[in-house]
Amino acid sequence: MLTNRAETVSTEAYLAGMRAIVQPVGLVTAACGGERDGVTAVTVCSATMEPPTLLVSIKQDSAVAQIITRCEAFGVSFLADTQARMARRFSDGGAEGEMLFGDGKWLTAATGAPLLDGAVSAFDCRLVDVVTCGGHSLFLGRVVSMISNEGEGLLYGDGYFRRLASKD
Ligand SMILES: Cc1cc2nc3c(=O)[nH]c(=O)nc-3n(C[C@H](O)[C@H](O)[C@H](O)COP(=O)(O)O)c2cc1C
Repeated sequence: MLTNRAETVSTEAYLAGMRAIVQPVGLVTAACGGERDGVTAVTVCSATMEPPTLLVSIKQDSAVAQIITRCEAFGVSFLADTQARMARRFSDGGAEGEMLFGDGKWLTAATGAPLLDGAVSAFDCRLVDVVTCGGHSLFLGRVVSMISNEGEGLLYGDGYFRRLASKD
């Protein structure tokens, strides 16, 4: 049953609803003209399977959003559950720009985007469209190359990084 007929729910209610959702964790990265940057992001999902296309939502005023717009490409590295430190590194504001890439082994994909070695799945995307909404850029990227590895993905739920529970 619908509980609120107003045009929009409050941000608090929305956040409370989203805290109950468990999401995979990715690093969205980009490189252009010798400049690299990236952020931890949970708003990453498959937009279409044919053609293979990913959707990411990134704060418009972030350095990585500006590099994506300029170089028309981005990478998404879905982290393994052993890589939570990388999720913290790319979200806590302690390091920025090139400094972010001082930990982990980074590969350069066909578009030039950095992809993290050991990620469970890493996708190299060519930008095909952008929608702006609420201070974020929703980037649609055609997947032009990818890497997969063994392992389970890192999750984020109720404010914590988590691992998958054992299978039944
Ligand atoms: C679990 C988690 C998920 C995040 N997801 C996103 C996201 O999907 N898009 C985004 O732009 N920022 C996301 N962020 C925030 C960025 O990783 C980063 O902290 C932020 O861009 C830093 O910007 P600020 O210095 O303006 O706060 C997320 C942060 C965390 C911890």
